[in-house]
This record gives sequence, structure tokens and C-alpha cells, in this order.
Amino acid sequence: MTRKPLIAGNWKMNNTISEGVVLTQEISNRFEKEWAEDVDVCICPPFTDIKPAKTVLDTDRCKVAVGGQNVYFQPKGAYTGEISVAMLKECGCSYCIVGHSERRTLFGETNEDVNLKAKALIEGKISPIVCVGESLEVRDDGAYIDYVCRQVEAAFAGIEAADAVTCVVAYEPIWAIGTGRTATPEQAEEVCAAVRATLGRLYGADVAEKMRVLYGGSMNEGNAELLLAQPNIDGGLIGGAALKAASFIAIIEAAV
Ligand code: G3P
Repeated sequence: MTRKPLIAGNWKMNNTISEGVVLTQEISNRFEKEWAEDVDVCICPPFTDIKPAKTVLDTDRCKVAVGGQNVYFQPKGAYTGEISVAMLKECGCSYCIVGHSERRTLFGETNEDVNLKAKALIEGKISPIVCVGESLEVRDDGAYIDYVCRQVEAAFAGIEAADAVTCVVAYEPIWAIGTGRTATPEQAEEVCAAVRATLGRLYGADVAEKMRVLYGGSMNEGNAELLLAQPNIDGGLIGGAALKAASFIAIIEAAV
């Protein structure tokens, strides 16, 4: 089964609007229209940058989608500081990251929060990019496969197959995020294959084969090709390398 790869850039809390316009313009200038046939590309900037990024990245030549980095599951109300699915939709988002390890560790997000966010995004017809991944302690204990698969099961609780197939899962080992210590292709493939097997148990092999599983964690232009060559890795969720146009474009080229 060939799945169309997805390369998503997670800018995290980087780039004011003016800095974001410079970076998105650099990416747009380097983007080759024909790539859109072979790879889906998305940028997830800070909320303030989404609309300006959409204007620069989604043109007749540059086909790069935009996405959010987080969302609240309620449709509207007294939730100071939060952003709703409708607000992301209005800004032109096609994707939204949920459950990033930084949201889980720094802001106390739970598996249940991630599940509620994913359901709200599905309702709003935005594809969730559901992040899972273990800490170094869990990895060293050897229990990382069970840990990650439990995160997948919790994230997809109560989500039907027809909706799950629109979702993306990103395996991001916490010990590889921002550290330069990338998982080896074998390590990444092992867990991405286990993620797909879990999706198979939940939804059947056909649906699991259609869903995209990404790797994230110090992916860059030097290691992208080997990681993306793995049978169960369908793309990347890129942090630091997405902040440099040349690096991000090189990763897209590795996926084409
Ligand atoms: O969401 C992607 C991010 O966590 C990976 O960051 O800098 O290791 O590519 P980085």
C-alpha cells in the first residue's frame, strides 16, 4: 500500500508575523508545484501566523497547507486564552497537532484531553495530527511499545473508522525532540509499525494501511531519506529543521 507522504513543520513558539512572512516566502519561493502530486506539506505556525502563512503558502504554484499546534475541544465560551476548531477552520487550517509532548509535559494535557481535541477536530473536518511518544526513562525501561500503543488507544477512544482514517499519528520519542539525538531508522520503524498494528487492532488492516504514521524528533535533511524509506514511516513532523527554509525543502525533496 503506498500512502502519500506528509511533511509537517511545527514552528512551536517561534516567528513573529514579520519573521513568519519571511520564512514562508522563502519556502514558497523554493517550492516546486509538481511536488504537490507526490507529497502533502503543511506548516503549523503560531496561531498569529496562520492567516499570513496561508496567504503566502497556498497559491496557484505553492501548495503548502497550514495547521494549528493545538486547539480546545469546546466550540466556544469562557475559556480564556484558548482557540476553537471553528477559529482554526476560519484561518484555513487543514491539520492540527494534538497531544504534542510539550503540551503533555509542560501543560498537563492527558490522553483524555487529546481524545476530546481529536474528536472536536474531526467534527470540524480538520485532520488531527495525534502525537505519541515515550520519555527516555520509559525507553530505557523497555516498556516503550506498550506505552505508545496505550497512548494511541486512548487518543482514538470512541472514534469510528470512517473518521480515524482522516487522522494522522506522529510518533515523537521525547528523548529525540530538539536534542539532535534522532531515533535510528530501525528504532523509528519498530514503533511506527507497532502504532500501525494498534490501529489495525482498533479498525482493521484496511483502515490501518490507509492511515499515515509520521516520525518526529530531530529529523533533518541529513537523516530524512533513511527514515522516510522505512515501510511504516509516512512522513515527518519537523521542529527545528522547519525553521530553516533550505532544510525544510530538502526534507520535502527526500519525501518526493
Ligand atoms: O513536533 C515536532 C517536534 O517536536 C520535533 O522537533 O526540533 O526535534 O525536529 P525537532
